[in-house]
Amino acid sequence: MLINKHILVGVCGSIAAYKSALLVRLLVKAGADVRVIMTPDAAAFITPLTLSTLSKHPVLTNLVKNNEGEWNNHVDLGLWADALVIAPATANTLGKFANGICDNLLTAVYLSARCQVYIAPAMDLDMLAHSSTKQNIQKLISFGNTIIEPGFGELASGLVGEGRLAEPEEIVSFLADKMAQSADLMGKRVLITAGPTYEAIDPVRFIGNHSSGKMGFALAAAAAKRGASVVLVAGPTSLVPSHPNIHLIPVVSAEEMFTACVGEYGNCDLAIMSAAVADYTPEHVAASKIKKQEDTFTISLTKTKDILKELGSRKKAGQVLIGFALETDNELTNAQKKLVGKNADLIVLNSLKDTGAGFGTDTNKVSLLSANGDIQHLELMAKNMVANHILTAAVKLL
Ligand code: CTP
Repeated sequence: MLINKHILVGVCGSIAAYKSALLVRLLVKAGADVRVIMTPDAAAFITPLTLSTLSKHPVLTNLVKNNEGEWNNHVDLGLWADALVIAPATANTLGKFANGICDNLLTAVYLSARCQVYIAPAMDLDMLAHSSTKQNIQKLISFGNTIIEPGFGELASGLVGEGRLAEPEEIVSFLADKMAQSADLMGKRVLITAGPTYEAIDPVRFIGNHSSGKMGFALAAAAAKRGASVVLVAGPTSLVPSHPNIHLIPVVSAEEMFTACVGEYGNCDLAIMSAAVADYTPEHVAASKIKKQEDTFTISLTKTKDILKELGSRKKAGQVLIGFALETDNELTNAQKKLVGKNADLIVLNSLKDTGAGFGTDTNKVSLLSANGDIQHLELMAKNMVANHILTAAVKLL
């Protein structure tokens, strides 16, 4: 699963840096194309020559190439990589990543990278247990990074405890598993809805909602990274798709979203309806701006078409349909009703009562309800990680 994968290995100044030599060797042996970036301190623990020989490429350390009047392009490196693996990651670099500090090539590449980032910490047990380190790790997880947990054992300080860098073999097999996952939607066509809909009242006013589209865009990006060809039908949002395999169909109203989805659904293997579609739309749209007259004003509304329900009624064998349920009360019962009533295979239940979940946030806390009765309650996590959990559940159903 690592054959021809572009793996960037970041090495920090830790006694465990010696293990990065074996890590690079194992990655190259597994068929990966490996480039190494060292922090300036790392060279005190392992020589760049060792890592350049093993990776078969020059090791990069500085933003500016010595005496050459040229820079090491961190943006290109960040785009080149299929995975960025920091092993060992010191408390210092964890702190920089967690706080957006960019003072060397590795921190610049981290900020520019669009790929999944895997962080394997290595430090003394008390440093790892310190509240600041714990907070930084939590922050990095909330940004969507993956932590490769340190192991328990004898540390460089002579103390025994948690903080040992995961063994290179473990890191490689962890990456291979993740990369296997990264191709599990290859050849699949996925339809995703995202964002709000705007229902026009007159040429300058509309009925809308607070949906930012972040969950749907995260799903589209995750599905594309896992190999899918994605059709993203999105209501008004400022977000832009981040992957070339995402075809965006911008729409405004529920009716436009309905037409686009019905048109695309027949060719799709998987559909995920994450948009916050208006349930009602003005019966009549005024041709010109409505002028202020009476003290009260009533707009007559009519029901929109339920896109998820319509797709549920058209679902063919082999197609998987996933809906969302945004609830404030009787969450599970209401979500179950939507699962059955709309003929979905899975409902992603979002409770607005949970802090960090719902509109506009970068995190979400959801439960996955399957048609076979299984319920999976997920912790609060970054929306791109929620997206991957949903896709993993979808792959099992496909
Ligand atoms: N949905 C849809 N078309 C609509 C309304 C909702 O496709 N006209 C989809 C949403 O994208 C979501 C699911 O149906 O996947 C549930 O949406 P939600 O707003 O939670 O529920 P509703 O069906 O609208 O019911 P209610 O507002 O009464 O909870």
